[in-house]
Amino acid sequence: MKLILTLSLICTRFYSVEMLQCFNCTDAACTNSSLVTCPALNERCLTATRTIKGPDNTTVVLKMCSPSSICVTPLNTEVTVSGNLGIIRASSNQLCCNTNGCNNETLSAPSSLANGRQCTSYSSFQGFVHNSTVACLGVEDQCLSFSGNVLGSINYMVNLQGCTSTNVCNYIDQLLPSRYINFVQFTCNTAPLPVTVTKAHNTACSIRLSLVPLLLGLTISKLI
Ligand SMILES: *[C@@H]1O[C@H](CO)[C@@H](O)[C@H](O)[C@H]1NC(C)=O
Ligand SMILES: *[C@@H]1O[C@H](CO)[C@@H](O)[C@H](O)[C@H]1NC(C)=O
Ligand SMILES: *[C@@H]1O[C@H](CO)[C@@H](O)[C@H](O)[C@H]1NC(C)=O
Ligand SMILES: *[C@@H]1O[C@H](CO)[C@@H](O)[C@H](O)[C@H]1NC(C)=O
Ligand SMILES: *[C@@H]1O[C@H](CO)[C@@H](O)[C@H](O)[C@H]1NC(C)=O
Repeated sequence: MKLILTLSLICTRFYSVEMLQCFNCTDAACTNSSLVTCPALNERCLTATRTIKGPDNTTVVLKMCSPSSICVTPLNTEVTVSGNLGIIRASSNQLCCNTNGCNNETLSAPSSLANGRQCTSYSSFQGFVHNSTVACLGVEDQCLSFSGNVLGSINYMVNLQGCTSTNVCNYIDQLLPSRYINFVQFTCNTAPLPVTVTKAHNTACSIRLSLVPLLLGLTISKLI
């Protein structure tokens, strides 16, 4: 009995010690944020500055608690995650960390300068087809090719090609938004050697960089 009590006390202590506190934006523009205690399953603090260029151009600052399944990039490291289909580009500077208040910093917006590379820009879904080339911007140094089935009330095939950052290709095992997309294939080509990663359907893993569903979601929801 004493042992159980001691153990449960230790557990309670650990539990309270491990409740992470992160800055959380108090307004849409994130001009102000406050320190909040994160829900139990949120083990990361995230700060991100995202730009979306497409039908609308927007820059959004995000500061929040995040599950580690979404904050997959290395801790305490600012990284740029970017995808560019030509018709829409979503790019994010983001930092994930796991100590109290570590996401206070407001990151700069990611670079939008052309870097000299170019990829096929291809989008096709539900009768919409776009086929041209796109200039890669900032850290985008890979040409991606993606196909999958979008899951919803109506399932349909989507094929996308464009520029992306290497980390999207590297994290692809964790990028599958399987709740929304039934992955068919994902290829990244860095000259001179192409690398193909083919994923099985219906993986249980729903870990993803937040950019990918954003990009796909925007593509799917805004352009149809
Ligand atoms: C962060 O702020 C948003 C709205 O500003 C609120 O809905 C959310 O509950 C806050 N998160 C936490 C963990 O307090
Ligand atoms: C920032 O948000 C905090 C918490 O919601 C609030 O107490 C404070 O007054 C706000 N500051 C400004 C400058 O809006
Ligand atoms: C968005 O930005 C692009 C390039 O910077 C520009 O060509 C386009 O006109 C802008 N669109 C809107 C709606 O402001
Ligand atoms: C958060 O950053 C702001 C602006 O850089 C600074 O004024 C503020 O003191 C910081 N707050 C904490 C708790 O570090
Ligand atoms: C896209 O256009 C190029 C050149 O116009 C053409 O060769 C290619 O077959 C087209 N791709 C698709 C999938 O239609």
